[in-house]
Amino acid sequence: VVDYPQVPVEVRAPVVRPRRLRSTPALRSMVAETGLEARRLVLPLFVREGLSEPVEIASMPGVVQHSRASLLAAAAEAAELGLGGVMLFGVPEHKDAAGSGALDPDGVLNLAITDVVGEVGDALTVMSDLCLDEFTDHGHCGLLTADGRVDNDRTLAAYGEMARAHAAAGVDMVGPSGMMDGQVAVVREALDTAEFTDVSILAYSAKYASAFFGPFREAVASSLEGDRRTYQQDPANAVEGVREALLDVEQGADLVMVKPAMGYLDVVRRVRDAVSVPVAAYNVSGEYAMVEAAARQGWIEREPAILETLLSIRRAGADVVLTYWAAEAARLLQRG
Ligand code: PBG
Repeated sequence: VVDYPQVPVEVRAPVVRPRRLRSTPALRSMVAETGLEARRLVLPLFVREGLSEPVEIASMPGVVQHSRASLLAAAAEAAELGLGGVMLFGVPEHKDAAGSGALDPDGVLNLAITDVVGEVGDALTVMSDLCLDEFTDHGHCGLLTADGRVDNDRTLAAYGEMARAHAAAGVDMVGPSGMMDGQVAVVREALDTAEFTDVSILAYSAKYASAFFGPFREAVASSLEGDRRTYQQDPANAVEGVREALLDVEQGADLVMVKPAMGYLDVVRRVRDAVSVPVAAYNVSGEYAMVEAAARQGWIEREPAILETLLSIRRAGADVVLTYWAAEAARLLQRG
C-alpha cells in the first residue's frame, strides 16, 4: 500500500491535447498520415520445376513452393485482391556453374512468366527476380572466376541475356537483384537493343548482406556456402545505400528498392528523400518468419503485427512493399 502525501498535487489542465485527435476510430482514420492499400503490395511467389503439388516451406509457415498449376491460382487470386503485382522466383531441377537454366527459354522461371502473364494480363504487374543464385550449383549470384570469386563483368553479360529471356517470356518488370556494379545499365541496354523498351526495371539497389534472408534459402533450395559480403552491402552503411540508389537511377532504374525492410527503415527514408522515382522495400523472409514464429508461440498478436509491420515500412517512405503477407493483408484491409 502506497502512502500518498496529504497535500494534493495542483494540476494545471493542459491547453494542448493531442489525445483529442485519437478519440474515435473515424477521427483517427481521418488524420492518419499513412495508408496501407492493396495496390501498393507485391506478392513474391516461388515456382519449383517438376512439382505436381505445392510444397510447404517449413521456415515460412503459410508460404509454398508452387507447382505450375498452383502458381496460376495464386496469381489469379492476387489479381482479384487488387494487389500491385507479383514477383516471381524460379527453382530449377538442375543447377550448374553457369546458371544456364536462367537463360533457357524453357527454364522454370521463363515458363512461369509466360503462364502468369497469360493468366492475369494487365490486371497485375508481373515482375521477375533477375539473378543467377537460384540457378547456380555454387549458389552465388554471379559467375565465378577460377579462384572462386564472383566475376562482376562476366556476370553482367549473363544478366543482360537473362533480362531478354524474361522480356521475351512477357514480363512487365525485371528485378535485377545480384548487386553487381553496372547491372542496371547493362539490363537496360540489353532490353532496349532487343526492342523491349517498355519493360521496366525495379532495381534491388540497397541490398544488404543480411541474416534475415535465411528462410529464403530454403524456399529456393539454395546451395550457397559462405556469404555474399563481397557484393551485397555491409549492414553498417546507410550513405552507401543512397549512393547505390542514385547510381541505379542514373543507369535507368524505374524504381529502386531497399532490402531488407524492417532493420533498414532509416535507409528507406534516406533513399525516399534522395531520389525522384518510386521506392520499394522488401519485407524479407526472415522478417516474415519472426512474426509467424512469435505468433505461433502466442507471444504476439499476429494480424495486428502484420499490419503494423507493413504500415511502418510505408511510413518510413516506401511507396511499394514486397511482402509474403500481401494477399492476406489485402484480405484484412477489405475486412476493415
Ligand atoms: C536473390 C534474392 C534473395 C532474396 C531475394 N532475391 C536472396 C539473397 O540475396 O541472398 C531474399 C528474399 C527474402 O529473404 O525474402 N535472388
